[in-house]
Amino acid sequence: MEKQNQRRIFSGAGAELWQPAERSIWTARSSDGGDQALALLKSLLDQPRWLAAQHLYDDIGSELFEKICDLPEYYLTRTESAILKERAEEIVRRAGVECIVELGAGTSQKTLLLLDAQVKQHGGGVFAPIDVSLASLRIARDSVERNFPQLMFHGLHGLYEDGIAAIEKDLPTLFVFLGSTVGNFDSWQFETFFSHVSRSMGSDDYFLLGVDRVKDVDLLKKAYDDSEKITAAFILNVFENVNRILGSNFDQTKMRYEPRYNAEWQRIEMYAVATQTQQIRVPGSKIEFSWHKGERILVEISRKFDPEQLQAQLRCFGLDPVAHYTDKKDWFSLVLFKKAARR
Ligand SMILES: C[S@@+](CC[C@H](N)C(=O)[O-])C[C@H]1O[C@@H](n2cnc3c(N)ncnc32)[C@H](O)[C@@H]1O
Repeated sequence: MEKQNQRRIFSGAGAELWQPAERSIWTARSSDGGDQALALLKSLLDQPRWLAAQHLYDDIGSELFEKICDLPEYYLTRTESAILKERAEEIVRRAGVECIVELGAGTSQKTLLLLDAQVKQHGGGVFAPIDVSLASLRIARDSVERNFPQLMFHGLHGLYEDGIAAIEKDLPTLFVFLGSTVGNFDSWQFETFFSHVSRSMGSDDYFLLGVDRVKDVDLLKKAYDDSEKITAAFILNVFENVNRILGSNFDQTKMRYEPRYNAEWQRIEMYAVATQTQQIRVPGSKIEFSWHKGERILVEISRKFDPEQLQAQLRCFGLDPVAHYTDKKDWFSLVLFKKAARR
C-alpha cells in the first residue's frame, strides 16, 4: 500500500530524490548537508548580515511558532482561519482536484478545513504537505490520519522547490500556501519561488495564497512584539539551530530581539542585535568574524501586501486570480489562482 501511494504522488524522476523517513513521511536527500551550511555561512558574511527564514524552524522554533499563532496580538492565524471556515467548501468546489499540496505546511491545522471539504465533496484524495520541520509534519500526519482516514497522507520533509519538483504533474492539484509565509520572501526569493511553482503547475491546477495586508502600523508592530516575549524567543532561537548546523558559538545571552516596521518596504523586519561584541567561530570552514556590539542581523521579514497589486503581479507569473476572499476588517486575504492557459 505504502509503495503504491508513493508511486502515485511522486513523478518518475522525483521519487529517486526522496527516501522514507518514517510512516507516510519522506525526506529529500538534498535537504541538508554541506550546501545548507555553505548557504548559511554566505548570508552571515553578507553585508549586512541576514538569515534565511527556514532556519527558524528547528523543533523548538516550530513549537514557539505554534505558540505565536495563539497569541492575542497575532491576529493573522485566527483571521485566516475565520475566512477558511466560511470559504473552504467553495474553494474546494471551485478547484475540484484530487490532490492538495501544502507548501510550508507547519502542523496544517487550518488546512483541516479544506481537507474536510475535500472528503465531503470527493470522498478522499491525496494530501501532501511540504515542510522543513519534521516535528510539524508528524503533528500534521497524526491529526490528518485521525480525522480523515479517507485521505492518503504524503509528508514531504524538505524545501519547497524539492517538494514541488517531486510531485506528479498529471494529478489535478490545489497548491496551498497559508499563513502569509510568502511575506518572508524578499523580491528575489518571491520571483524564484513563483517562477518555479508556475512552471511546475499543470493546466488543471490551482494555487491558494494567504496574505497579510497593509494596515494600521500599531497593530502590525504589536503582532511582532508580544507582551509574553514569545516572538523574541522564536527569533533568537534561530542561533541555536545555526550553531547546530555550523558548529558555531553564537551566544543568546549576548543579543536581543528588535522588530522594526519599514514603511517604504511595507514590511516588519525582525533583527537580532549584539548587546556585546561576540567573536564567532565556524570551525569547519576555519572562518572567524566579530559580531560587533550594536550590529544587527536580519533574521526574518514579514512583508504586507495590497491584494489587488499582488493579483496583477501574479498574472505575470501565469497565475490568473479566480476568487478573492477577505475578512470583515479587510486585514487578511485569501486569493485563489488558476494556472493560466498558455498565451
Ligand atoms: C510562517 S510558518 C506557517 C505555517 C502554516 N502554513 C501556517 O499557516 O500556520 C512557515 C512554515 O514554512 C516552513 N518553511 C519555511 N521555509 C521553508 C522552505 N524553504 N521550504 C519548506 N518549508 C519551509 C516552516 O518550517 C514553517 O512550518
